[in-house]
Amino acid sequence: MQEKVVAILEEIKQSSAENAAQLEQYRLRFISKKSVITELFGELKHVANDKKREVGQQLNELKNEAQQKFKKLIAQLDDQQTANESIGIDVSLPDGGQELGGVHPLNYIRFKIIEIFERIGFNVSDGPEIEDDWHNFSALNFPENHPAREMQDTFFIERDPDILLRTHTSNVQVRLTENQKPPIRSIMPGRAFRNEAISARAHCVFHQVEGLYIDKNVSFVNLKQTLYHFAKEMFGKHTEVRFRPSYFPFTEPSAEIDISCQICHGDGCQLSKFTGWVEIAGSGMVDPNVLENCGIDPDEYTGFAFGMGIERISQLKFRVNDLRLYTENDVRFLKQFRTLH
Ligand code: DAH
Repeated sequence: MQEKVVAILEEIKQSSAENAAQLEQYRLRFISKKSVITELFGELKHVANDKKREVGQQLNELKNEAQQKFKKLIAQLDDQQTANESIGIDVSLPDGGQELGGVHPLNYIRFKIIEIFERIGFNVSDGPEIEDDWHNFSALNFPENHPAREMQDTFFIERDPDILLRTHTSNVQVRLTENQKPPIRSIMPGRAFRNEAISARAHCVFHQVEGLYIDKNVSFVNLKQTLYHFAKEMFGKHTEVRFRPSYFPFTEPSAEIDISCQICHGDGCQLSKFTGWVEIAGSGMVDPNVLENCGIDPDEYTGFAFGMGIERISQLKFRVNDLRLYTENDVRFLKQFRTLH
C-alpha cells in the first residue's frame, strides 16, 4: 500500500497540463470519484487495524497533494491562455494555410494590351504624370479656350505658368516625338487624372494606353489595320470592328473605334445604349500642327495615334460595371481574378 502511495505521489509531481484535454486527464486519474486515490481509500478496509490510522493519514495527505497540484495546473493553463489572447493568438484554431495573391484586373488588361502591340513591333514608353500646359494641351493643338483646360476638368498644381496632373496619356506622344527621330512605334500606358466626382461611372484617377506610329508613308489604312488586329486579339476573332468619324484636336481625320457589344452581341443592352456597338478607343492621323510642334517635318512624315481606357476594356472583358471596385481593394472582388496570369 505504501509503495503505491509513494508511486502515485511521484506521478502527481511529474504531471503537467499544456491544454484542457491534459488537465481533464489529470482530473480523471487523481481527483474524480474513479481516481486511483479513491481506489486506494477503498482498499483501506484490508489494512490491518493497527495501521489503519497511519495509512488513512497518508492517503489524506496524498489526496491533498493531488488537489493542490490540480489547482496549480488550472492556474498555469489560465495564465497561458490570457497571454495568448493578449497577443491575438488562438492556439486552438486550425492553421489557415497559405493564400496566393492574384493579378489586379487593370494590370492584367495593361499587360495584355502591351503583349498584343509588342508582337507587332511597338515598344513601351513612359512619361510624367505631373505635366506643363505645353505637353498636355498646347503642343497637342488644343485651342486656347478649349473646355478641357478649364478648372472643372483639370487638376492644376500651379497657375501661370500652368502645372497640372495630366488629363490623358497623350502628353507622352509629345515628349516622345520631341526627343526621338522617326520611325516611332510606341505604346504608352499610364494613369490620367480629371476633376470628376467619384461614382460608378466616373473616377478622378483612371488608366489609359496611348499609341503612336510615325514614319514615312504611314496612312489611315495602317491605323485601321493595326486597331482592327488589336480588337480581334483582345476580344476574339468573331468580334466586329467599325470606325466612326469623330473629332480630336490632335488628329485629323479622327475616328472612334467601336466593337460589337460583348454583352448583348448586337441584340441591344444598356451598355451599348441599344445599338449593339460599344466604343473602345479614340484615334486618328496625327495633325500636321502637332508634328510641327514637336520638331518633325509633316511633309516628310505622317503618323497615327490612338488612346484607350484600360477600365473600359476591363469592363467589356470582365463586366465590371462600377469603377470604384478597382480601387477599394475588397478581397471579395480581387479574389475573383485569382486565376488570371
Ligand atoms: N486623349 C484622348 C482622351 O483622353 C484619347 C485619344 C483619342 C488619344 C484619339 C489619341 C487619339 O491619341 O488619337 O480622351
